[in-house]
Amino acid sequence: MKVISTEKSQVLASKVAANLRIDISYTKFEKFPDSELYLKTERPDAETVIIGSITDSDSFIQLLLLIDACEGSDITLVLPYMGYARQDRKFNDGEPVSGRAIAKALSGGINRVITVNIHEDAVLGFFSVPAKNLSLASEVGRHLSTLGLDNPLILAPDAGAAGFAAGVADTYGWESDHLKKTRISGMEVQIKPQKLDVAGREVVIVDDIISTGGTLATAAEMLREQGAKKIHAACVHGVFASGGYARLCSAGFSSVTSSDTIESGSSQVSAAELIAEAIRNQ
Ligand code: R5P
Repeated sequence: MKVISTEKSQVLASKVAANLRIDISYTKFEKFPDSELYLKTERPDAETVIIGSITDSDSFIQLLLLIDACEGSDITLVLPYMGYARQDRKFNDGEPVSGRAIAKALSGGINRVITVNIHEDAVLGFFSVPAKNLSLASEVGRHLSTLGLDNPLILAPDAGAAGFAAGVADTYGWESDHLKKTRISGMEVQIKPQKLDVAGREVVIVDDIISTGGTLATAAEMLREQGAKKIHAACVHGVFASGGYARLCSAGFSSVTSSDTIESGSSQVSAAELIAEAIRNQ
């Protein structure tokens, strides 16, 4: 068995390979002058684990190319971050079900798929191969425990993230709660004012994805008005679009944690062990 990764998931993929004590293949990635992508990887083994987050169009195309390059191998596809999984239905006429389009395109040529904290579980049903989702809630909880938090409240910004917040909180028997969020636009959200027991406490706002940081920055304003001592941010997928990371820092967050499902300087939590364990047990 060998691990192969897309360009942007090579650190996480190398950690998974090390954890499984197997080799990672070297893949050369290039771009043609007309911007088409090219890659060349090593000869695949009978079993291959392809690891790649969908963070942009190039990473998606690289996955399609790697799957094709490994034709004939038994392929486990690992999508540490599956972009497009937020659109699991048509909200307006004429829209695609983007999660379905991506899942259908990737299903051909693979034998099974593993995702990590996929935004909508329903998207797993769009793959035509067995699909399993893993959660990094305990790993995030363990990282937060190293921050020495004082009487923390683990808070989700909306009902969709409440289960994740509860999973993070359960790691150390902390308390969790969730807010009610309405999205106004891609950059703007409204959070319904809600009285919480946060005075003098450290609050960690947790979410599966931080994109522009708008959701967390809006929630933080309300918490500060209610007397929270410190506010931290933690997520699985740190997309940090449109300056999202700096937005949180300038909004006064004491720390910003994310995982290596999207590799960046803020990736303090690794999904490698969890992914390796799932592959070992399949
Ligand atoms: C959506 O429901 C997700 O869970 C996140 O809350 C959302 O993607 C965060 O986006 P932003 O950081 O741009 O507010």
